[in-house]
Amino acid sequence: MSLNSQNSTETENPKNANVQWGGRFAGGPSEIMQAINASISFDKVMWKQDIAGSLAHAAMLAHVGIISKEDEATIRKGLTEIGQEIAAGNFPFSEALEDIHMNIEARLSDRIGEPGKRLHTARSRNDQVATDFRLWVRDAIDGLNQQVAALMRSLARRAEEHAATPMPGFTHLQTAQPVTFGHHLMAYVEMLARDRGRLADTRKRLNECPLGSAALAGTSFPIDRKMTAELLHFDRPTANSLDSVSDRDFALEYLSALSIMAMHLSRMAEEIVIWCSSPFSFIRLSDAFTTGSSIMPQKRNPDAAELVRAKTGRITGSLVSLLTVMKGLPLAYAKDMQEDKEPVFEATDAAALSLAACDGMVRDMTANTAQMRALAGSGYSTATDIADWLVRVLKVPFRTAHHVTGRLVAKAEEKGVGLADLTLQDMQAEEPGITDDIYSVLSVDASIASRTSEGGTAPGNVSAQAQRWLKVLGAEPTAAGQ
Ligand code: ARG
Repeated sequence: MSLNSQNSTETENPKNANVQWGGRFAGGPSEIMQAINASISFDKVMWKQDIAGSLAHAAMLAHVGIISKEDEATIRKGLTEIGQEIAAGNFPFSEALEDIHMNIEARLSDRIGEPGKRLHTARSRNDQVATDFRLWVRDAIDGLNQQVAALMRSLARRAEEHAATPMPGFTHLQTAQPVTFGHHLMAYVEMLARDRGRLADTRKRLNECPLGSAALAGTSFPIDRKMTAELLHFDRPTANSLDSVSDRDFALEYLSALSIMAMHLSRMAEEIVIWCSSPFSFIRLSDAFTTGSSIMPQKRNPDAAELVRAKTGRITGSLVSLLTVMKGLPLAYAKDMQEDKEPVFEATDAAALSLAACDGMVRDMTANTAQMRALAGSGYSTATDIADWLVRVLKVPFRTAHHVTGRLVAKAEEKGVGLADLTLQDMQAEEPGITDDIYSVLSVDASIASRTSEGGTAPGNVSAQAQRWLKVLGAEPTAAGQ
């Protein structure tokens, strides 16, 4: 676009009217108009969905006798060839033709003449774009769903491997109680399972076909909306034509689900960053998932994890962006809604890359089990086990046991030793009923092994959970290479 066109209300080529809708226009749009109006630069990614929608529409038009079978066959052949042309990178995309819908339709008419001009009968770009976009989001959900499953599988495998590896469990990022590394990894499997559930819910609600709603009011042609819905693998046609062309809930639900998932991935990424830092040194990432510093030769930076953490901003931003576009729009379609696509495309790319990076890091990381075990026992992490022993063996009320244990922690702190290093006399000074048996609960392994309550960190629980998920996920169809 040239800068001086900003001052011109007329176009440089007044006869350049749009070939699709330019009938009543004497001139074409200004360059600025064209630049703000065109979406082809980004909506071309929906070409497959647009062709699928048109094929279904044409088949239906022929089935009910609105166009002839011969015209439908010609349209089908034309659209198939256009698909090949686009796939091969030979399609002449034109900004003047605004979007993917008009680019393909104009090309069809160029190639096959009159039958091509019949395709848009009983349809509008409003129901067309609503259909294409639903199909695109549905495909994206299916792709991401596979990726989430792959990540869950990798996590469960690593969790099985580390079902009995102690690590410090934190609350407030303060050492709380020992847990196993496997248990920690399985927590993310649960989060991701809910993310998949949200994507599946979105898909279920999305799966109604708006095609045939036409511009906003429906059509006077005797169309068969059930047929197009079925051909495009929707569960049913949508019920209200106004709602159909103005609804973008499916995209918003999708972005909401992605935002929550991105938040989960960001938390995982943040933990990877912490675990890799030298004061923690819980894990190590290989050269494949780290970068070096240009000045500090010793550095091994977890850039992939940091970028996963950061990409959350784009994904959440996309949700806010589309919510803002949609808020306050009167029914039915308004061109504002063309701004629905980039946030969805951008969030999808960011989510796919983040999932791939997380999967890569989870497979790649090596656990520093000695360091994790050492820190699991530091910070009086088995204090709760003392309190529980007092309750269980001496029948002391828990609140009292908590106070006694608090005094024992203070004593250990004073002497600069761990709880297991306190003498029996030290212990009995606070609670005379304490016996030698209390030492049996003070080790990290004993603490972990005792957490056998449902959902607890005992190694047996953790490997059972990991195996359960591997079985569930293993039974599902997987994407190639996973
Ligand atoms: N490119 C447009 C979009 O994405 C297609 C629908 C245009 N409809 C219209 N009435 N101008 O929203």
